[in-house]
Formats: sequence, C-alpha cells, structure tokens
Amino acid sequence: MSVSADRPRALRRAAGTIALPQGPGAPFPGVVAHHEGPSRLHGHAPAFHESTVVRGEPASHYFRASGISARAEENGGLCTFWMGEKLALYQITNEALVGDDVLAPSTDANRELFGDFMGSMPHDHPDRPAKRAAVERSLGNAKFVERIEPAVRRHAAEHLGRAAGRAVPLDDFALSLTAYVDSLIPGVLDLTQRPLPDYLDSAEYGRVVRGFFDLASDVISNDNPAAMREFDVIVPFVRDLLTANFDALDAAPESNMIRRHFVLWGLPFTRASVAALDAARIKELGTVIVATYDTTALSLTWAIGYVEATPEVKAAVVAEARRGGGAGCPRATASPSVIDLAVLEAVRLGGSNPSALWRRTTEPFTLHHEGAAVTVPAGTMMWLDRRQANRDPAVFPEPCRFAPANIEAIVRTDRETVSSLLSRGRYEINSFSMVNADRNPRKCPGRLFSVRMQSVVLAELYGHYTVATRGVDLRLKHHASMPRPASPGTITIRPDADVARDPATRREPTP
Ligand code: HEM
Repeated sequence: MSVSADRPRALRRAAGTIALPQGPGAPFPGVVAHHEGPSRLHGHAPAFHESTVVRGEPASHYFRASGISARAEENGGLCTFWMGEKLALYQITNEALVGDDVLAPSTDANRELFGDFMGSMPHDHPDRPAKRAAVERSLGNAKFVERIEPAVRRHAAEHLGRAAGRAVPLDDFALSLTAYVDSLIPGVLDLTQRPLPDYLDSAEYGRVVRGFFDLASDVISNDNPAAMREFDVIVPFVRDLLTANFDALDAAPESNMIRRHFVLWGLPFTRASVAALDAARIKELGTVIVATYDTTALSLTWAIGYVEATPEVKAAVVAEARRGGGAGCPRATASPSVIDLAVLEAVRLGGSNPSALWRRTTEPFTLHHEGAAVTVPAGTMMWLDRRQANRDPAVFPEPCRFAPANIEAIVRTDRETVSSLLSRGRYEINSFSMVNADRNPRKCPGRLFSVRMQSVVLAELYGHYTVATRGVDLRLKHHASMPRPASPGTITIRPDADVARDPATRREPTP
C-alpha cells in the first residue's frame, strides 16, 4: 500500500485560529489526544514493526500494549500517533468519522494482486456500481438469500453425512463445508462439475486457494518475497475452475456471479473467452470467488468454536436446531433466531477479518470531536481498531464474552431482522468494512448471504449431529494476517440417533 504524506508542517483548527505545533508532537492539542511513542524520530513505526512483523502479533495487540488504546479510551475514542513520518488517527469506537470520498480505495490500487477488483477502485470509478451490483443484487438481497436457504441446507446435509464419524481440524471442516455448499447452491457460483473442495486439496493450487488473503497480506507487507510468485497461481487456478465447470456455468441461472462478470465485461461466455481472459479480469474474478468462501469459512470456524466453548449457548442452539429452527423457515426477513444471534456474536467477537485496518485520506477533511473541529490533512492513516471497537462496553453489555445478549442489546425494535442489523447505516459491529465511513458504501456486499448461510449450516449441524471439539484455542494466532484461532483443534460429529428417529425433526426429502 502506498502512503506518501509527510508530517504536516502546521495544522490549524478549522473552526478557530489556534496554531498547532510544527513537526513532531501532538497535531491537534486540546482536541484529540496524542501518544508520542517510543521513538522521538519515528514515533511508533519501529515498535509496531517489531510487534506485528517480527513477533507476528495482531495489530490490535500492539495498540493495547503500547498504551494507544488506553489513551483513546480516556479521550472519547480517538488518539493520534506518528507512524514514522505519517500521521495516524486511531479510533476505538464504531462510528463514522469520514466520508468514503476522501479515502483511498480499500485495497489501495494494488492491481497486481487483485486485478480489476472493485475494492481497488476509487469511490467514483464509473465501473464500481455495476461491479457491486453483480454481487449485491443476489447475495445482498434478503428475498434471494431466503430462496436459496433450502439448497444450502440440503448441500450442507450431504457434506456433513460424509464428514461424520472422524476427527478433523475445525478450520478444515469449516472450509471444506463452506466451499462445498458455495459451489453447489444454484445461482451463486454453480461449480457443480468440479467443486471448490477439489481445488483446496490439490497440490498445485491448494496453498493459494486456502490462504489467499493471508498470502495477499504477505505480498503487501513484503515480508515474503516469494509470495508474489505464489500468488500468481490464482490465474491458472481460476482458468482451470472456469474450464472444468464450463457446462455448469453455461447453464447457470442469471444470478450466477461468474456469469455476471462476463456480462459486465461485455464478453460472451464461451470457451474462447475463458481462454483469452486477461490477468486483471481473472484476478478480479478470483478475488470474488475466494471472498465468497474464505471469510465465511473463517467466520464459521469462530462460530462453532465459540458455541462449543459456551455450554449455555450450545444448549440454546441445539434446542432451536432440533425444533427445526432455520429449516424451511426463512429468516433473512424475520426476527433473528438464537442461531442468527450466535453467528452475529461470533462475527463481533472473532471478527473474521484483520483486527485493525486503516485507509489513507486523499484530501483534508474536517474532524468533529467532542464539540471541536480540526482539519485532518491528506495522507493521514485512518486506523480503526475493529477488535476493540467490537468490544465497546458502551454498546455491548458483556463485551468480552460470547453472549447472544450482546446482539440483543443492539436490537432496536421488534421489527429488526438480520438484514436490518447488517444494513449499511448500522455501525455497532464492524467486521464487514475496513473503517467506518459515512453510510459505508463499500460495506461487504456478501454479508447477508454469509451470515444466513452460516445459520442454516449450524441448524443442520446441531439439529442432526452430536458435536464435540477438542483442543480449540480461541485466542488469536500469531503470524497470521487474518484472525485465526491460535489452535483450531479438532471437531467430531456423530449422527444423532434420537433425532433421526424423531419424525417431528426429520428432514424433508431432498427434491
Ligand atoms: C464473514 C464473512 C465476510 C467478511 C467478514 C467480509 C468482510 C469484508 C470486508 C471487511 C470488506 C471491505 C469493505 C471495505 O472496503 O470497507 C469486504 C468487501 C467485500 N466483500 Fe466481504 N466479507 C465476508 C463475506 C463475503 C462474501 C460471502 C462475499 C461474496 C462474494 C464477499 C465479497 C466482498 C466484496 C466483493 C467486497 C468489496 C466491496 C466493495 O469494494 O465495494 N464478502 N468484505
């Protein structure tokens, strides 16, 4: 990522005339708290590097250990610091401070990695709305998501039937389950001829297909020079995927995201077009395909891990699942079920996305804070500590515990749905945006699908199997850019004989 702004020479209060100090030191004295950091010349940069790159700690750990978090907590949620020459504004609450129009693209123009992916495009790029719509018109649409729920359940049942009876690492379990279901649901990816789990297991593509976002982060932070070469395996992987699944894709419903990309590009869907696709388009498609299963699988890992570690929640989830909750009972437009609450709670606590992220300002903007206003210069790093913001005690009654009551606390009316809790204008949980921008125009377009899919899968799992995990450590793993459990442990599932015999909870025959 490129960040170029030098320390601003002089910053002024937008609303007043107070001159602020030149060079090092607090840029907005009396308005925003500041943390000097251990190095007079470089601020926090060397210590941050040592913590996150050398020791491999999550960025959020550094902010806590360095005292930046505490300073923000004591001062309305904000604190500035210097990251070398760059001014950084750190936030610990989930509130929007700035518009998307003054922020650099989320995956800051790293075309080499993500090709023409929408996240690398500026806010006003004319292609962005259509690219978002290719995903959002189906995966962000509550009616569409409800329609595919029976298929999610059916394919989850098939996969679970095959996985039953042996101990497997929990993260592998969640990944192959998600990749399988995503491949088969009609109108999403339609990779029915050679589904994604085949590729996860392949010697040729397995590493990239499994660790795409970790690898991307390795390339960006440049601590693994070999990563770029490995990353390019995405190109033959996606071409192979399209070729092996060509007939299924050719016959896929209009909502299919891969076919929609061909429409966007103005290309007919033919074998010749697949063979001739350039790297930028292949990488764009690859990023969307991997985004579909990768983050959802990680999220499901956390959800199962937390449910298993919290007996009272597990009992409630099992009871609801055995009553048939989630089965044949569309929920994207209904009040959240106990299982929905558990999934959202795992999204809040586990995150499924890096613990702290930042975006660079491209223009000065006026920051309003505790009754005062200052001008934040272009080139500032806007950091959001999402891990800590998602544990804001002012919002969540039991911020550090896995408790569905935390999600109940943000339910505003009895008309609240999963969809409304995840809407762009809701900021209580940030796991679907890099930072909180006004009206969040980049908020993940796959979020509703991801949350509901996990709920349906959990309803199938806990409704028909006895589940046991061993050795899961839910602290954060080090040297992993995505927030993974320190140890995924193993999961064993066994068909529950009582449930199979009970006609009240028996599944509908598959169509
Ligand atoms: C728990 C699962 C998921 C998490 C935690 C997650 C998280 C995120 C985050 C943090 C962003 C960045 C938003 C920003 O730039 O501020 C994002 C963007 C995006 N996500 Fe997801 N995501 C998930 C599932 C999915 C799924 C299932 C899809 C399906 C295709 C998807 C597709 C995308 C796309 C296309 C973008 C770019 C949006 C844009 O730039 O406007 N994600 N996601």
